[in-house]
Amino acid sequence: MAQFPHLMAPLQIGPVTVRNRIVSTGHDTGMSEHGGLIGDQLIAYQQARAKGGAGLIVLQVAAISDSAFYTSHIIQAMNDECIPGYQRMADAVLGEGASCFGQIFHPGREMLGSADGTLGVSWSASSVANERYHVKPRAMTTDVIRQTIQDYAAAAERLKRGGIQGAEIVASHGYLPAQFLSAQINHREDDYGGSPENRLRFLREILEAVRDRVGPDFVVGARISGDDKDGIGLEPDECHAACVALDQAGLVDYLSVVAGSSATRSGSFHIVPPMYQEAGYTAPLGRAVKDNVSVPVIVTGRINQPQIAEQIIAGGDADACGMTRSLICDPMMPAKTLAGDSDDIRACIACNQACIGHFFMGAAISCIQHPETGRERDYEPQEAARASRKVLIAGGGPGGMKAAAVAAERGHEVILFEAGPQLGGQALLAQLLPGRAEFGGIVTNLSHELERAGVTVRLNTRVDRALVESEAPDAVVIATGAVPSEPEIEGAGEGHVVNAWQVLRGEANVGQSVVVADFRCDWIGVGLAEKLALDGCRVQLAFNGSQLAENLMQYLRDHAAARMFDLGVELHSYARLYGVDSDTVYLEHAMARKPIVCEGVDTLVTALGHESVDNLEGELDGMNIELHMIGDCLAPRTAEEAVLEGLKVASAL
Ligand SMILES: Cc1cc2nc3c(=O)[nH]c(=O)nc-3n(C[C@H](O)[C@H](O)[C@H](O)COP(=O)(O)OP(=O)(O)OC[C@H]3O[C@@H](n4cnc5c(N)ncnc54)[C@H](O)[C@@H]3O)c2cc1C
Ligand SMILES: Cc1cc2nc3c(=O)[nH]c(=O)nc-3n(C[C@H](O)[C@H](O)[C@H](O)COP(=O)(O)O)c2cc1C
Ligand code: SF4
Repeated sequence: MAQFPHLMAPLQIGPVTVRNRIVSTGHDTGMSEHGGLIGDQLIAYQQARAKGGAGLIVLQVAAISDSAFYTSHIIQAMNDECIPGYQRMADAVLGEGASCFGQIFHPGREMLGSADGTLGVSWSASSVANERYHVKPRAMTTDVIRQTIQDYAAAAERLKRGGIQGAEIVASHGYLPAQFLSAQINHREDDYGGSPENRLRFLREILEAVRDRVGPDFVVGARISGDDKDGIGLEPDECHAACVALDQAGLVDYLSVVAGSSATRSGSFHIVPPMYQEAGYTAPLGRAVKDNVSVPVIVTGRINQPQIAEQIIAGGDADACGMTRSLICDPMMPAKTLAGDSDDIRACIACNQACIGHFFMGAAISCIQHPETGRERDYEPQEAARASRKVLIAGGGPGGMKAAAVAAERGHEVILFEAGPQLGGQALLAQLLPGRAEFGGIVTNLSHELERAGVTVRLNTRVDRALVESEAPDAVVIATGAVPSEPEIEGAGEGHVVNAWQVLRGEANVGQSVVVADFRCDWIGVGLAEKLALDGCRVQLAFNGSQLAENLMQYLRDHAAARMFDLGVELHSYARLYGVDSDTVYLEHAMARKPIVCEGVDTLVTALGHESVDNLEGELDGMNIELHMIGDCLAPRTAEEAVLEGLKVASAL
């Protein structure tokens, strides 16, 4: 507490006293049930954050009407069926001492999907198409506007009847109220268009209608983007003017400031900013609003450590900090901060994989470092083992490390053997790709967890049958990972061929003109292309997919596309590697079945996927020992599956 006096101080928001300044801002969890209701999984998820000490939990966007279902997994506040779920949620969250508000939401033209796969009619201020989803909306008639305002008010009242303490109108990220605010989208010639005052009228009337319905003893706030960050959306001065007007009219109890817009690719990148953005970069957006309004301001965006949040609040940039992924990654972060154990915090590395990545896949959110998230009912709290057993873990990559930490926490005697000189496995290579140093945080965090749990670590020790016999463990977990695939490439003897790992380790002599052949379409191909282009090479990236990095979530893929463009990397899509000779790489268009020939090439760099290292399973055959395999040695995938399988195996030992 002494270290974090500003962050841990209570905050008054309207009639509600929030116990500290750490906020879990609204985030769609993909955990709705029965067509939009709050159920046990979502309650367990939020309760864990409340129990971990968060000050304020803002529940995810809730649709105010049928036309607000922007995904099939959104929750709803459009009819009274939602109230019992909110009631149970309020009991759970308030019962742990946190405060609880909920977002009410209409996306306007920002439609991501629908339950039955058909496109509904979407609405906006005017019939201006959205660039990212290519949705052409209908202009709202005055009757539709009036009904929509009433829908917001009715939704807020339902939250109140459900015991929730406040409603946040989502006017951020280019959603419906922001579409009215924007002169680019709002071409209306009636009272809702034209001047800035008229463009603000929709949001103003929503807030007035909400306040009329909920009365004075309920918090009403708004979320707003301080900068759409896309060059065609709302500019900072327009956002500030709107915030000042709402504050001066006494229409909001607080403002929640973010960056970005759903409408464009560069804007959407800032909704959940990946590790390429520096931590705390949105603080100036909070400052610009806070300096001009009287109500508390929450600022959000890549604030992943309490030290940064403390600095933001102490420096006067905001009154509270959204630390959403920080809490997804470590629900106990506030309690650890308060107890002076901030070194034990598992910091979010902004990889955007299991949280927002799952959201886009329509799956419940989780965290690659903490797969207990979203699975609270199965794994929290961890039960102590019935009897302590000796567990041998072979392999110190993310999977082996997680298995070791959880098994030791549960009371087993755990020895982890790693063949190499360092823990981390492939994550040690992943962190070497340009802009991805923070990925190494997974190793730092897991190493710390191993230490705390009392795992014995033996480096530079390869596990084989003799070692297992001499250790005589009760159970062995094989987590020996994977190595690069080296398929036979026609002409490889003639050409200069090196693999991705050799390049990253600095073990390859790469020429001036390079083709990177990318099979997995993930971080590795685009990362290598970027690295080599930064080193001054002419780079051609040939990927066997319809678009580059097609297996990455959209924001990461878009970032990669921008880097390839900036660095002049030449791209070949649908490119299946065929062969190589002394200065040419031969590819085939996987669909047209026609050659793609890259001439004048010095080096072919292969990123052709991985092969499991699973020989230990065979070596231990017949030993009559309990044996488990996890992670890439089972099938080469990602750190997410390795860590999850580590958790599963260790929880069952
Ligand atoms: C360049 C690169 C970038 C990547 N980027 C990402 C990313 O951004 N996100 C993501 O989720 N995934 C990424 N991945 C994939 C991810 O790193 C792996 O899926 C993950 O590390 C697999 O974990 P694991 O524990 O199963 O195996 P590994 O990480 O492969 O670890 C296995 C460990 O076992 C050791 N070992 C092998 N045999 C023995 C033995 N007999 N005895 C003792 N030790 C042994 C190895 O030395 C190694 O340290 C990337 C991979 C690479 C190569
Ligand atoms: C999975 C996921 C879903 C999100 N859904 C919403 C949402 O429903 N409403 C909203 O206003 N913001 C949403 N966001 C944005 C977050 O509220 C927050 O602004 C963002 O994660 C950046 O903050 P952070 O860096 O602290 O995570 C979502 C974020 C994530 C990770
Ligand atoms: S999955 Fe990655 S970005 Fe998401 S919360 Fe976990 S560490 Fe953070």
